[in-house]
Amino acid sequence: MTLRTASAIANPNIAFIKYWGNRDAALRLPSNGSISLTIGGLETYTSVTFDESLSSDHIAIDGQPASASASERVSLHLDRIRLVAGIETYATVESRNNFPVGAGLASSASAFAALSLAGISAAGLSLQPAELSRLARRGSGSACRSIFGGFVEWYASETDEGSYAESFAAPDYWDLQDLIVILSGEHKGVGSTQGHALADTSPLQSARVADAQRRLKECRRAILDRDFFSLASIIELDCNLMHAVMHTSTPPLMYWYPETLQIMTAVSKWREEGHEVCYTIDAGPNVHCICTSKHADTIEERLHHLPGVVKVLRAHPGDSARVVPSI
Ligand code: DP6
Repeated sequence: MTLRTASAIANPNIAFIKYWGNRDAALRLPSNGSISLTIGGLETYTSVTFDESLSSDHIAIDGQPASASASERVSLHLDRIRLVAGIETYATVESRNNFPVGAGLASSASAFAALSLAGISAAGLSLQPAELSRLARRGSGSACRSIFGGFVEWYASETDEGSYAESFAAPDYWDLQDLIVILSGEHKGVGSTQGHALADTSPLQSARVADAQRRLKECRRAILDRDFFSLASIIELDCNLMHAVMHTSTPPLMYWYPETLQIMTAVSKWREEGHEVCYTIDAGPNVHCICTSKHADTIEERLHHLPGVVKVLRAHPGDSARVVPSI
């Protein structure tokens, strides 16, 4: 019996300029480019073992057998890895997260980044980072950004070959922190994949996409110049544009809780007072408060006094996905 095993760790990421809607859903070619920060401190550990004695894939997430839909999505991704490696062997996949999954904390990003790297390594291959990023993109769009550390841009392209991510500033380039305000650890109702399919039903999506190049350029510049207040404006605008598209889709998607809006309002007020903090929100109710590290203690303390706050996770710029010893 031949067993080939490898393990990898990947961090999730928080998009500053968001991916919402696909030009090609099957290939996960996004309607617009995006920029994110890889989030250190939160991580997915995944081990893949190709085992010739198996007659199907076996997938466990956080110690439990994965649901039918999650298993199907992971198996489809293993098929992509098997195709690259020229093998047909089934695999055991064990994946563990140190943060709540499915609550808008981008667990699919770290999950498919770690799965891609562990799977390729277990198959005895090594891919160039851009190739690995393209592979991860097919599993979950945002996963292509989690292959890289620090500040990352994913290029929207009309072709599979052209749509991958790259890091443009290392994790230590700018001492930002992400205070992730958890309002609910419950699994969200409508997942991102279903949400992307609704984007084009909003009359606002075309305007959001048409202006994306300008926002990407402004975000890149603000990061490279470490210009916090410009970054804050463009991040919040981009977040609000994506949620406006969600709110005006058919059917509408409303991820916010009343407390989400209270946090957004409080963060805006704190920034007017001079604190370096801004908000961004993915497909869930939780709020990411991006701040410079010198303001992080004060902001975290204030967040704990707001209604509905269950927990505040503190994260920092994270590293690229890496192969690790199996545990
Ligand atoms: C709101 O990458 O989770 O977080 O490709 O269907 O897996 P799939 O979608 P996913 O979408 C992420 C949406 C977002 C914005 C972003 O991360 O850019």
